[in-house]
Amino acid sequence: MTDRYALIGHPVGHSKSPLIHGLFAQATAQDLTYTAIEAPLDGFADTLASFRASGGRGTNVTVPFKLQAFELSTDPSETARLAGAANTLKFVDDRIHADNTDGVGLVNDLQRNLGHRLAGKRVLLLGAGGATRGAILPIAAEHPALFAVANRTAARAHALRSAFAAHTVLQTGGLDELQGESFDVIINATSAGLTQSALPLPDSIFAPGALAYDMVYGKGLTPFLRQARAAGVSTLADGVGMLVEQAAESFTIWRGVRPDTRAVIERLTVPLV
Ligand code: ATR
Repeated sequence: MTDRYALIGHPVGHSKSPLIHGLFAQATAQDLTYTAIEAPLDGFADTLASFRASGGRGTNVTVPFKLQAFELSTDPSETARLAGAANTLKFVDDRIHADNTDGVGLVNDLQRNLGHRLAGKRVLLLGAGGATRGAILPIAAEHPALFAVANRTAARAHALRSAFAAHTVLQTGGLDELQGESFDVIINATSAGLTQSALPLPDSIFAPGALAYDMVYGKGLTPFLRQARAAGVSTLADGVGMLVEQAAESFTIWRGVRPDTRAVIERLTVPLV
């Protein structure tokens, strides 16, 4: 019988997830369907319950429901627990397993696809929202030499240092404290890229040979990537690889089969111009 999966979010109209999972299912010969469901803003729990009751096997969850997805789960992974958010739910009998595959997707993209190993490197995450929370544990697991989180509102970055203190040592502060600091991998996890807003960043943060990564995808060169390029960074990436890799992680959790990501990333890549 065909197994059913879905993305639940609001909005979901422009989501690439049905395409990505459809391609994965085809390539791995898995008998499944994957659709996008737009839940009312006050109706995530009901939408999830009815999808589950109608035989759904699992869901991805996107904005603005990732926190609720975590709260409704019975068996969250440590990554989901520390992020306080889940993007992947798997229904097992009467249990709801939850995971957060965004951070692992990011790390897989950085290391496997872009060839930038994080071990021993100086890594800077910009932002202190949900995207950053999900990325901290998977990045820390690669043992960077220095791991910094800088945010417009410094207090939110400092709060992350406390929240993750048992797992990693974060250097935290405001964007205005980055003058003179230098990093090998700089990741924009703020939502500034979505609105094409520039971040007040000193060029010093881009060390020679650095990688500049913006988690947004399909927007071409964001102001952050544009600044990195102007500062001499030659390796620029947007979040298309992260999008496909987090989907591959979810697919593996559900199906026990890891799909190949390269062809799907190539298909979805929008040139950085
Ligand atoms: P998400 O879950 O997508 O991370 P979020 O929790 O709303 O979303 O967090 C958005 C992040 O982008 C925050 O770190 C925010 O900074 P503040 O904590 O100071 O609000 C950051 N952000 C959004 N727009 C920004 C801008 N124009 N300049 C700098 N930082 C910005």
